[in-house]
Parts: sequence; C-alpha cells; structure tokens
Amino acid sequence: MATIKSILQENRIFKPNDNFVAQANLLNKKDYSSLCKEAEGNYENFWGRLAREYIQWRKPFTRVLDESNHPFFKWFDDGVLNVSYNCLDRNLECNSDKTAIIFESDEGNITNITYRELYLRVCQFANGLRSLNIKKGDRIIIYMPMSIEAVVAMQACARIGAIHSVVFGGFSAKSLHERIVDTAAVAVITADEQMRGGKGILLKSVVDKALTMSNTDFVNSVIIYQRTGTHIEWNSVRDTWWHQLITDKPDYCEPEWVSAEHPLFILYTSGSTGKPKGIQHSSAGYLLGAMVSMKWVFDYKSTDIFWCTADVGWITGHSYVAYAPLAMGATQIIFEGIPTFPDAGRFWKIIQDHRVTTFYTAPTAIRSLIKLGSELPGQYDLSSLRLLGSVGEPINPEAWVWYYEVVGQSRCPIVDTWWQTETGCHMIAPIPGVVSLKPGSCTFPLPGIMAAIVDETGHEVENGEGGLLVIKRPFPSLARTIWGNPDRFKNTYFPEDIGNKYYLAGDSAQCDSDGYFWIMGRVDDVLNISGHRLGTMEIESALVANSLVAEAAVVGKPHEIKGEIIVAFVVLKGPSPKGENAKQIAIELRNWVSKEIGPIAKPEEIRFGDNLPKTRSGKIMRRLLRTIGRGDEITQDISTLENPAILEQLKKSAI
Ligand code: WT7
Repeated sequence: MATIKSILQENRIFKPNDNFVAQANLLNKKDYSSLCKEAEGNYENFWGRLAREYIQWRKPFTRVLDESNHPFFKWFDDGVLNVSYNCLDRNLECNSDKTAIIFESDEGNITNITYRELYLRVCQFANGLRSLNIKKGDRIIIYMPMSIEAVVAMQACARIGAIHSVVFGGFSAKSLHERIVDTAAVAVITADEQMRGGKGILLKSVVDKALTMSNTDFVNSVIIYQRTGTHIEWNSVRDTWWHQLITDKPDYCEPEWVSAEHPLFILYTSGSTGKPKGIQHSSAGYLLGAMVSMKWVFDYKSTDIFWCTADVGWITGHSYVAYAPLAMGATQIIFEGIPTFPDAGRFWKIIQDHRVTTFYTAPTAIRSLIKLGSELPGQYDLSSLRLLGSVGEPINPEAWVWYYEVVGQSRCPIVDTWWQTETGCHMIAPIPGVVSLKPGSCTFPLPGIMAAIVDETGHEVENGEGGLLVIKRPFPSLARTIWGNPDRFKNTYFPEDIGNKYYLAGDSAQCDSDGYFWIMGRVDDVLNISGHRLGTMEIESALVANSLVAEAAVVGKPHEIKGEIIVAFVVLKGPSPKGENAKQIAIELRNWVSKEIGPIAKPEEIRFGDNLPKTRSGKIMRRLLRTIGRGDEITQDISTLENPAILEQLKKSAI
C-alpha cells in the first residue's frame, strides 16, 4: 500500500521545567528508561510485578499471561480480587476522612464526600441491588447524570460482581433500547431528571420509552435516583426509588470475590459503520492499567485535586473518574454541568474555587472555550494547576499552545494522551517531567506498551512515513472481547493480514525523526489526493492555525482526475461569512493552507457553518460531512449526533 503522507511541520519543543521535574514521580530519564528496559527485558515479569504492587489480591495469581487462545488473552487469570474493595476498603485505613469526591452541581451547589462515606453508600446500595436479587454476572444499565450516585452505582455493581454498562445520559430511547437488548440487562439505574446548563433533561421517561419497545421482558427493576423531584410515570411492578431501596440496608456488604478475568463492565462504542460494539473489559487487567497510568501520566500525588471533565458515559469517565482516582485514594472533582453555563468561565472558576491541580479535558472543549473567550482564564486564579491533559482526538498545535500559555501559564506540562475505549487506559502519552513536549504529538508509548506503525502487511514503516498504528504485544488493560460477538472482536482488532498478533487500533499515525508519535486520524478518514494519502488532522491543524478559524474538518470528495479533492468545513471565530465576504475568506484560507503545508493539501472547496456535526463525546462526524460534501442525501444513522440541526445549515453552505 502507499503509506500515508505526513505534511505537517511542527518544530516547537517544550522542555519540562525545573520546578516540575523536581517533584515528578518518575524523576528522570534513567527511571523512565529503566522501566522501559524492564518491560522489554521480561514483559510478563514487568506486568506481574506491577499487578502485585498496585492491586490488593484476595488470592494471588500464579500465572501472568495466557496467550493460548489468541486473541482472547488472559491476565493474572487465577488471581482473585474485587475492584470495589480496591477502590474503597483499601482507603479506610489511611484515607478514611479524606475527601474522595467534591461534587459541584449545575447550579453551583457543592457536596463533599469522604472515603468512609462513599464506602458506606456503596455498601448500602450494593445491598439494595442484592435485595432485588441481582447477582454476579448480571448486566445492569446505568443511565444517569454526572453525580456521586453514578459512581456509587458503578462501584456497587463492581462490589457484587454485576457487570455495568453505562449509557451516556444524552442518548436517545432508541440507543438505550439497543444497549438494553444487547446486554439483556436485568435492571436499569437512572434518575428522574438531569440538569445541564440550567435546563432539565428527563431521563426516567426515556427509560420508560425504551422499555416499551420490543424484547425487554428480562428487565425486572428500574431504580430511580431523585435528582430534581420532577413528576415521573410510575410502574408499580418494576420501579423503585433509590432512597427507598437503601433505607434499612446494612452499611456493610461483603464483596463478591471474582477472578481477575471476570468482566467489570461493557461499554458501547460506535464505530463509523455497523452497530455499536459492546467493549467488554476485565477486572484486574483493566484496574491495573488505569492505576499505573494515573501514577505515571498524571504524575499523581496524594495532595492533588484531580479533575477529569469526562462524563462517566465514556471510557475516560470510567477509567479516570469512577476507578483510578478512587483506587489511588485521590480527591477528585465531579461536575454535573457544562463548560459554558452560566458563562464560558465556568471551568476556570471551578479550578480556582477548588484549587484543582490536575485538569484533564478534550480538545473540542478547549477549542470552544477559545472561541467563546480566549481571555477569560486570565480573570481567574489558576495558580493551583500543575498538570494539564488532553484526550479524545489530536489536539491541533494552536489549541495546544493556547492551553499551555493561557491556562497553564507556561508552567504546566500538557499530557496529550492517546488511547481508546478498547485499550482501557493511556497507551501513548508523555511522562511529564521526563519527556520534552511537541504540540500535537502524544509523544511516546508508555513503558510496557509496544506501539509501532506498520503498512497493510504488518511491516514497520520508516520514521516520517505514515501508516497504521498497532500494538505489538498484548497488555493487561486491553478489552477482552465484544460482548456476544467474539468473531467481530477478532476481525476488527486482530485481522490476519496485519499478522504477528498485532492489535490494530484503526488510527493512522507517523513517527518523526525523534521517534515522537503523531496521530493523523482514523484510517477510515484518510484522503487520497492524486495518489497521495493524507490524514485529516494535519490539514485541519493548518486551518485552525489561521487566526480567523475556530474549528475545521476536512473530507474527501470523489474527483475524476485527482481521485479525491479536499472539502473543508470551517467554523470561524466570528459569525459565519456570507456572499462575497465568504468567497474572499475562502480564497485567503486556501492560500494559507497552500503556504502552510503545500499546494497538495489545499482545499478545493471551503464551506462555512456555525458548528460541525459532532458526537456527544465531541468527535466530528466526518462521514456525515463526506455525504454533504458530495451533495448526497444523508441516509446514515444520526442517532449519536449531538446537534442534528447543523446538517441543514451545512447542506446549504456551498459558496
Ligand atoms: C479514538 C478513540 C480515549 C478516550 C476517549 C475517546 C482518538 C483519542 C487521542 C489523542 C489523537 C486521539 C483516536 C482513537 N483519540 N485520544 N490524544 N490524540 N487521537 O475514546 O471514543 O474510544 O475514541 O479517539 O482516533 O482511536 P474513543
């Protein structure tokens, strides 16, 4: 295959500053390279050592890795543990009175909860679940707002060995129904309503609607957390109030001791085609990955105030809200609302008010906050911050530099963390204090993660050439299968032509001459311009580097001669331009890209809009833009689209 061409030139480099280095967990290059060497030298011993160090085992394992049933790997297989025990009981000794969660509601009310209180609430609720006859291995759907209760629900499932599947509160009844049916869940945990940006969004009624659809007889119970007290329809057979369920329940609940491989949760991820995949994670391997990465990448300290802004409906909210922070005994922020309510300073105010040290968010949030008030962070005291993180998509260098200078005041390293729902935890990310940063690069694989870039036959490509991102050896936190569809798991992630048992991530990437990894986008999105294969990321970065542009997405449109031409959808920082003005700006931007990265990357067409079609986790849905770019009718599934109204506007945007 023709490898993917890399055209982005980014030469800025940011060395770790001395103050940060002086306090970092991995103090120097030597510690770091000795970890990498240890992993390369004896891979299984390396993970075995960490698993003994980080996890409290009920019964220790005797074998680290079983690869006999490739690609269904087993880790620490005969070990016995409980994940909730590792997150809660282990903190009773030293952290009992430490704040586990600082919850800030949409309207700004604050609730603090200590480790002891959280432990008691999880025990009570777990006993409540048991009283409904919910047992080890049963599947439970959680459809809740960001709340302490959502974490309690997840932890309580883990405590009794039930397998949770969290469905993001923004999903429709149809998506919820699909997940209820696919997991054959026996219970749904929800809330009457959720509050986002001052608006109430009914949740229980969506559950009711999903349960009137076909094939849901196996759902015996719906448990409702009362968030606002709004009226709900009541089904006397299956509905139970959360507060009534826990009344009189004992506040001790013996954990269900499970094997290391027992499924902890299923989380659905929608690929660009096909029905959503129920990604199934293990107990021990998953927990280990989440903990170790928290220590290394977030440089976690017991004095930190940690804030990951992700919803628990995404993997980021599983690993870095519901599990790793608790297992590490951290104090963390959980925020119910949205970054722009009551105004675009909300994130900065929360950081100031709670003295947040570690802030982890997505590039889409950063870009929208730049658009809505790039000067706002300056009005808050952000001096408590010591580390910033980014996740979810490539962060374009301009947004990176703004995040670094304006939010982090050139003091805080940015950890750009590449990973996926399937990998469970960070895979490629800088070790802060050790690795010098390049804006837009997620830098190097973590110790024990054997990442590489290969062509379609599985051969490694030269530095500077783009290709397919793979991980060459199994690692503990990798998903175990797709729920109910092991063949799809095998075919999607371990296709035979890649060979050598590599995990195929589905992203295109390149390594530069210093060995830094640069993610170029999803393989499905690669453009083919006059025989050159280009990733979307670099062209989009070039567009966003123009001072007029807030966001951009590029797609290919078939062309008789060139194969494909580039169509760019652009959101300006100001209002969308019209008529002559739009034409002028389009010319200016085409010339700009041509100058920044070369004529080959010059968008043939530019279309302006007030926004881009995004999934609810903030990912741009390029497949919809491709359809619009071609002028075709949209017939695809748009149930995961956050802002459907934008499609009509973009359809009319040709200039
Ligand atoms: C896909 C995974 C990882 C948790 C949230 C998303 C893209 C993710 C980065 C990054 C470049 C990134 C990849 C990946 N992605 N992080 N730091 N740099 N791209 O989880 O929904 O499973 O999406 O998100 O394309 O494959 P997900």
